[in-house]
Amino acid sequence: SKQLIIAIDGPSGVGKGTLAKALSKKLHLPYLDTGLLYRAVGRKMLDMGLSPDDEELVRQAQNLTEADWNRNDLRVSEVDKAASLVAARPKIRAALLDMQRHFATTQGVVMDGRDIGTVILPNADVKLFITASTYVRAKRRWLQYTNDVDAIDKDEQIKQVEKELEARDLADSSRAVAPLRPAEDAKIINTDHLSADAVLQEALRLIGV
Ligand code: C5P
Repeated sequence: SKQLIIAIDGPSGVGKGTLAKALSKKLHLPYLDTGLLYRAVGRKMLDMGLSPDDEELVRQAQNLTEADWNRNDLRVSEVDKAASLVAARPKIRAALLDMQRHFATTQGVVMDGRDIGTVILPNADVKLFITASTYVRAKRRWLQYTNDVDAIDKDEQIKQVEKELEARDLADSSRAVAPLRPAEDAKIINTDHLSADAVLQEALRLIGV
């Protein structure tokens, strides 16, 4: 039987990675976190001292391997910014396009990112667009990046993360190429008041399995 192709989009810290992983496990589908591809290219730019418009960076993107996007130093603040910067470059996006499409084979897929439903997999069986308020997302992202839940300047730290999220959201949704926006046929889930399990249940209901 034909396996499901599920596209999940939304801003960062919204819980789409958690949802995508849970769906992949539950439905036995391969999973690709496309944010890691842009993070891996951003990491290369920083490590090699390249500019986002350098042709060498486009070559690096074309030759990206699983080892590059499975590195464990991609979820740090400097790479957040570098990823968002390289993601606005059409040549970088083009270099990563086929790689992403090839991932959606006969085995089905759960893929998450910003433009999966709109650009990468426009014929996906199900498109989900995940949203949440910036404060809730900042708090989740802060918890992901720190272990110090008792920090005395916790509120300040969360506010700082919130500012960075807002800047990245603005960059991701206002760029000319593949801006963050729901596909016309996407189903929206707001996760502000939902636990990870409640989000999964809602997604399964919308997928119809
Ligand atoms: O999802 P994540 O926060 O890991 O993505 C990092 C950056 O990569 C985003 O801020 C966005 O600029 C970019 N991105 C993108 N398209 C995708 C996935 C990520 O532009 N499909």
